[in-house]
Amino acid sequence: MGTVCVIGAGKMGSMIVRSIVKTGDYRVVATDVDPSRRMLVKSYGAEVFESNRDAVKSSNVIILAVKPKDVPVVVTDIKDLISGKLVISIAAAVPLNRMESIAPDARFIRVMPNILIEAGEAFIAICPGSRATEEDFETAVRIFGRMGEVAKIDENLMDVLTGFSGSGPAYVFTIMDAFADAGVKIGLPKELALRIAARMMLGSAKMVLEGKGRPMELRDMVATPGGTTIMGIYELEKGGLRALIMNAVEAAVKRARELSESFS
Ligand SMILES: NC(=O)c1ccc[n+]([C@@H]2O[C@H](COP(=O)([O-])OP(=O)(O)OC[C@H]3O[C@@H](n4cnc5c(N)ncnc54)[C@H](OP(=O)(O)O)[C@@H]3O)[C@@H](O)[C@H]2O)c1
Repeated sequence: MGTVCVIGAGKMGSMIVRSIVKTGDYRVVATDVDPSRRMLVKSYGAEVFESNRDAVKSSNVIILAVKPKDVPVVVTDIKDLISGKLVISIAAAVPLNRMESIAPDARFIRVMPNILIEAGEAFIAICPGSRATEEDFETAVRIFGRMGEVAKIDENLMDVLTGFSGSGPAYVFTIMDAFADAGVKIGLPKELALRIAARMMLGSAKMVLEGKGRPMELRDMVATPGGTTIMGIYELEKGGLRALIMNAVEAAVKRARELSESFS
């Protein structure tokens, strides 16, 4: 059995550790500068190290789950130990060629997941670097395929995906909470309203993913002529909901591009 090392056991790193441990496909080692984060991933079944170098030594695959600003620092620190190894970075904004220039003998892959890996329902973009082999790509698919749907994506779309699917769950949670507040406004208890809102979003997503229809076809099945639903939809359209969502995603992508430029 191979060993996967997760460097950075923060929000994403700890979820990744938990997912890989659960599959039993790999031995998992993890590091973090924060002892409480190390304790957390230890409780998930990872072997923990204080030193990144010690953790990397006994690993075949390294996953970088630190903040973008820490990626060059970490790669520089371990560069002699990752020679000939596969390194998968989940960091936003840090281009493959930046990491490849620091560690010319390592093979890099960039991955853009989102926090829905916790539910096994993320969309995970995988972008192999110039030295990554087909086998490396398959390794990334094997690891991240358990966390949701994976797709091979060109690096020039990584910033777009960072602002779209990387940040996406935050938009959806905001919309879900707005529904819960709407429920409260019309007299429902908040917890009940939240459960209903979450079910509506889960069920609607399932119908689209299962091919029951495109969103607007399904919407038209609910909105009968002169009925209640179309009155609500009119208010959504009048308020510019679609434009608002388009602007939000565009703003996030703009920020992702700015961050990327700072690493180029
Ligand atoms: N959060 C998301 O929804 C999301 C989605 C897609 C991709 N990402 C990417 O995932 C990466 C991690 O994000 P996150 O939200 O999980 O961040 P996070 O919660 O801050 O986790 C990063 C962890 O790494 C630790 N760390 C810092 N320097 C380290 C070092 N040299 N060695 C070992 N550990 C170190 C941090 O400790 P300190 O806090 O003490 O520095 C922190 O516990 C980022 O690059 C981000 O772009 C995040």
